[in-house]
Amino acid sequence: MKTRITEMFGIEHPIIQGGMHYVGFAELAAAVSNAGGLGIITALTQKSPEDLAKEIARCREMTDKPIGVNLTFLPVVEAPDYPGYINSIIEGGVKVVETAGNNPAKWLPLLKENNIKVIHKCTTVRHALKAEGIGCDAVSVDGFECGGHPGEDDIPNMILLPRAAEELNIPFVSSGGMADARSLVASLAMGADGMNMGTRFIATKDAPVHENVKQAILAATELDTRLVMRPLRNTERVLTNKAVEKILEKEKELGAHIKFEDIIKEVSGVYPRVMLDGEMDAGAWSCGMVAGLIHDIPTVQELMDRIMNESKQLIEDRLKGILN
Ligand SMILES: Cc1cc2nc3c(=O)[nH]c(=O)nc-3n(C[C@H](O)[C@H](O)[C@H](O)COP(=O)(O)O)c2cc1C
Repeated sequence: MKTRITEMFGIEHPIIQGGMHYVGFAELAAAVSNAGGLGIITALTQKSPEDLAKEIARCREMTDKPIGVNLTFLPVVEAPDYPGYINSIIEGGVKVVETAGNNPAKWLPLLKENNIKVIHKCTTVRHALKAEGIGCDAVSVDGFECGGHPGEDDIPNMILLPRAAEELNIPFVSSGGMADARSLVASLAMGADGMNMGTRFIATKDAPVHENVKQAILAATELDTRLVMRPLRNTERVLTNKAVEKILEKEKELGAHIKFEDIIKEVSGVYPRVMLDGEMDAGAWSCGMVAGLIHDIPTVQELMDRIMNESKQLIEDRLKGILN
């Protein structure tokens, strides 16, 4: 397949692995890139810019294909050392950055000067147009189904993707709820130039996370995610568990008076405990509704090959067959 996204990023297949806290390590990024997609290392999982530089170098030892780095701009008082992280990206020769969270305008000139392509993750057409306006090269359009932060507008991809296609000139990939060939072909039909997957890539042999996490995704259905932190306008879609139930109880009890401090135990410092130690009830961790479509734990290579082969069959047999 050749799309504006494969051309822009110099990759074989129009499939991107979204940045994921404590999942987007060198091993997963390299596996996705080696299989022909774009693997992405998550910058903020690395404790310092020096650690990110080492992670990029480690990834380079595992692949000579293009890789990307995710930079998430968090709504926090004490900002991480973004200039330092960006310096590690530049020095590491990384040519694609996936930005998410706040508007990345402040950092665009520096990234552009260094010939780095920027794909910004957006959950609304309004934000996607803003990203296009400030000079992002592409956007990742993240629907309400997505694992992680779906924003506050709740527009599912069946509407959001064609709306993005109506408005945008720069290429975009679909994100949220994507799992297989059906997702890719539908995304292309709705005007996207590729797709981004998060949750699906966690349930692969190459994802360097605890086996419990993969089994939890396998066991989950599309009914098992919850939205937390909605009253704080920082909505996150997570897999339900005891900690999540506790958060939801507190949200109900405290209503509009709830503060971040009230749920800090259930959301802060949770990722290493869940992803590395396999403590599944440690707290709230992002997971998409797409868990309902995940029924196995293949290698990344097997997953990508399957998606590409079945996409071809879908287009050539099913869709062309319907026309005939
Ligand atoms: C466990 C997990 C952690 C994530 N962490 C981040 C992150 O740190 N930064 C970010 O921009 N997106 C993050 N995301 C969102 C993904 O990059 C992607 O947009 C999302 O998973 C797409 O939805 P899907 O899970 O339905 O495929 C995370 C998602 C998951 C499942």
